[in-house]
Parts: sequence; structure tokens; C-alpha cells
Amino acid sequence: GRIVVAIDGPSGSGKSSVSKAVARTLNAAYLDTGAMYRAITFSVLAEGADLNDAAAVAQAVRDAQLQISVDPDAELVQIAGQDVTQAIREPRISENVSAVATNLEARAELVRRQQEIIAANERIVAEGRDITTVVAPDADARILLTASEEARLRRRGLQLGGTQNDAQLEAQVLARDAKDSTVVNFTEAADGVMTVDSSDLDFEQTIAAVLDAVQA
Ligand code: CDP
Repeated sequence: GRIVVAIDGPSGSGKSSVSKAVARTLNAAYLDTGAMYRAITFSVLAEGADLNDAAAVAQAVRDAQLQISVDPDAELVQIAGQDVTQAIREPRISENVSAVATNLEARAELVRRQQEIIAANERIVAEGRDITTVVAPDADARILLTASEEARLRRRGLQLGGTQNDAQLEAQVLARDAKDSTVVNFTEAADGVMTVDSSDLDFEQTIAAVLDAVQA
């Protein structure tokens, strides 16, 4: 039957890979909402619009011809037919995505599109920062995937007290989460949301813990 699984969590919690694996196990579709924020950022930069101009960013979201695959085994993101799957992972996107994530009009429009995608799929795992609270508060399973700061940096190939480059990337990731958390709270589980702390779990154990939460 129909099943909607909502998974939120910070950067480096393992959210994307865990959500994809859970979707495969449940024979469900998979929605990476972060990719949508990234695609809009790509689009605004490509148009040469000003990311600090809130009205321009909001308009860009409304105009965006955004297509996203919901196949957990075939990631594909397109803007006006252009494949931007790889491009949206570039550092220049990560560095600028908060301008879209903190724009309330942009969020409202993206939330609306995400809800459409969820409604169009019989079974789906949707992942992001506000899925359990805003996008799909009525999901069958709502999970907050957390991990200690140390575990999150380790998963990004960084280390506390590592090289200067590590320290710089680490500061960037933490700064982005801090900025985003002014608009969405993804550090505490809302009422009815189950927390899975993956700090001391490996990949398989994390998937098992999430599947347990889904079946609970
Ligand atoms: O790479 P990382 O896991 O940190 O981020 P992502 O999931 O690719 O999301 C990219 C950006 O979009 C982040 O800055 C998120 O905070 C933001 N985002 C959001 O505001 N709301 C969502 N539902 C998903 C992502």
C-alpha cells in the first residue's frame, strides 16, 4: 500500500545514502529535496541574478523549469532540459545555497512542488531538513537522522584538528548548517518524530535502525 517516509537531518548525517538504501528496500521512490535547493541556486547563478536580491530569487524559483528523478538508482536533475546533476554538487553551489534555503518565498514554492511529487508517488522516501515538519508532517514514518559533529565531519572525509584545508571545509559545512537552522529547525525532533543517532552506527546498522523506525 501507500507509504511515505520523511527523513530530516543535518549535513553529513548520512541522510542521502541512507534514504536511498531505505527507498530501495521498500521498493519506493526517493526524493532528494536538497538537490532542488541546489538546482535553483545553479539557475540563479547561471542567469547572473543577484542571490542577495530576495525578490529575484523568489521569482527564479517560480520560473524554474526544474525536473528531478525519483529513482533511487538514477540521480538526474535538470533545469530547462539541461542536465545539472553533477554541477549542483560543485563547491560554488554549496557556498551559495543558503541564499535560496533562507528565502521564505523560495521555500514555500519548493515545498509546494515537493508535496506534488510526494502525492504523485504511491511509495516514497523524501529527505531534507523540513520534511518531517513542513513538507510531509502526515508521513507514515518521520525520522530525524542525527550524528555527532565529529561523526559528521569524519563522513565528509574531514577531521577535527586536521589540516588547514580540513578546518576550512569544516567551518564551511558548520556555517551552512548554522545559517540554514535559522529558518528550519533540523536539530531537534518535532513531536512524533523518531530520532536515529548514527554516530556509533555503520552504514548497514543505520539503515536497519531507520527501517525499524519505519516498521514501528
Ligand atoms: O550537502 P548537504 O547534505 O549538506 O545538503 P543538501 O541536502 O544537498 O541540501 C543543500 C542545501 O539545501 C542545504 O543548505 C540545506 O539546508 C538546504 N535544504 C533545505 O533548506 N531544506 C531542505 N528540505 C533540503 C535542503
